[in-house]
Amino acid sequence: MKAVYFQKTGSISNLEWGDFPKREKIKPGEVRLKFLAGSLNHLDLWVLKGLPRVRYTFPHLCGADLCGEVIESKSKKFKLKEKVLLYPGTSLGKDSLGRPCPENLCDDFKIRGENAPGVFAEEIVASDRYLIKAPKHLTSIEAASIPLVYLTAWQMIEKAELKPGKISTVPILVNGVGSGVSQALLNILNSFGAKRIAFTSRSEAKFGDWKKTPGFTGFTLSENTYDDLKSWAKPDGISVVFDHVGEALFETNIRLLKRGGKLVTCGATSGHKGNLDLRHLYFRQLQLLGSTMGSLKHFKDVIRWIEKKKIHPKISKTFPLQNIQEAYQYLESGSQTGKIVLTP
Ligand SMILES: NC(=O)c1ccc[n+]([C@@H]2O[C@H](COP(=O)([O-])OP(=O)(O)OC[C@H]3O[C@@H](n4cnc5c(N)ncnc54)[C@H](OP(=O)(O)O)[C@@H]3O)[C@@H](O)[C@H]2O)c1
Repeated sequence: MKAVYFQKTGSISNLEWGDFPKREKIKPGEVRLKFLAGSLNHLDLWVLKGLPRVRYTFPHLCGADLCGEVIESKSKKFKLKEKVLLYPGTSLGKDSLGRPCPENLCDDFKIRGENAPGVFAEEIVASDRYLIKAPKHLTSIEAASIPLVYLTAWQMIEKAELKPGKISTVPILVNGVGSGVSQALLNILNSFGAKRIAFTSRSEAKFGDWKKTPGFTGFTLSENTYDDLKSWAKPDGISVVFDHVGEALFETNIRLLKRGGKLVTCGATSGHKGNLDLRHLYFRQLQLLGSTMGSLKHFKDVIRWIEKKKIHPKISKTFPLQNIQEAYQYLESGSQTGKIVLTP
């Protein structure tokens, strides 16, 4: 079979679409999936460039996000031809003493395409533990845009303690609107009834339909960003900041939070250092919350919510798998608004 892989970390030119060994036999509880669509995450770029915490085995199979069709099944839960989404992590969901534990907090937690084998292959074999039927209202391309970023956004919103129907007046900031994670955050927050959202981007061209959504206001990043957002959030400040931009916006984020406000962060695209004046932290009783992906329960909950609310993810552009270098270049350029999707 063919797959997307690299033989050494480094530049996008190391990516190959070529022959890759296929698992011949599947075990009870497993299914074989045909690739219907996959999507890129910024993570795929970090992994290609080389992450110190990852023990690579080469060839390294890429990709975390997959929408697949069951083409062979030894599972009691999934039948042939079913369209499914795959949890982008792996873990048995037990702590070191064997007690139940959210997968993404377990020591054995791995991310597909990072420290577990990836999914950008014509076929992959997976345990039915990690599968859920794809929402019926979505195309395969849309469905493949869901797993990693919606899972991440769902847990971030849970950490911020924002609940459906109770957040219309809560001032919320979402940074980096062009990103897959932020589009997921905005979609979920909108479906929860949020009506006081500020979002930022380096480019106004990325505001899209969000600038027409009642209660949503876009801000292009500039030297006036802090003043603009402070004025928007009058009189108290911002209750929750969702961020993955990192260093470039960290101090602004902290200064904008109201007393008792929360910064929920899942990434550091612009750099991973942040200066924190501890007086802000304790005087204003801020909460800094780190978040990485989510548990299997989160995964199933967010997909059911997407189905219930008929949410459609934002797709930026699609590329055939064999044009994988072009797709990664587009991701690296930062031109996207939403997800970059790979098709067979
Ligand atoms: N911990 C987790 O579980 C988790 C999960 C998913 C993602 N992440 C991390 O979250 C980040 C976003 O992921 P993604 O896949 O959604 O990425 P993405 O689609 O590539 O989007 C990245 C966005 O970040 C913004 N950005 C980048 N550099 C910036 C800078 N110097 N100043 C201001 N904004 C900047 C841009 O938004 P604009 O174009 O709108 O300016 C860019 O589009 C990545 O760092 C990723 O590794 C972490």
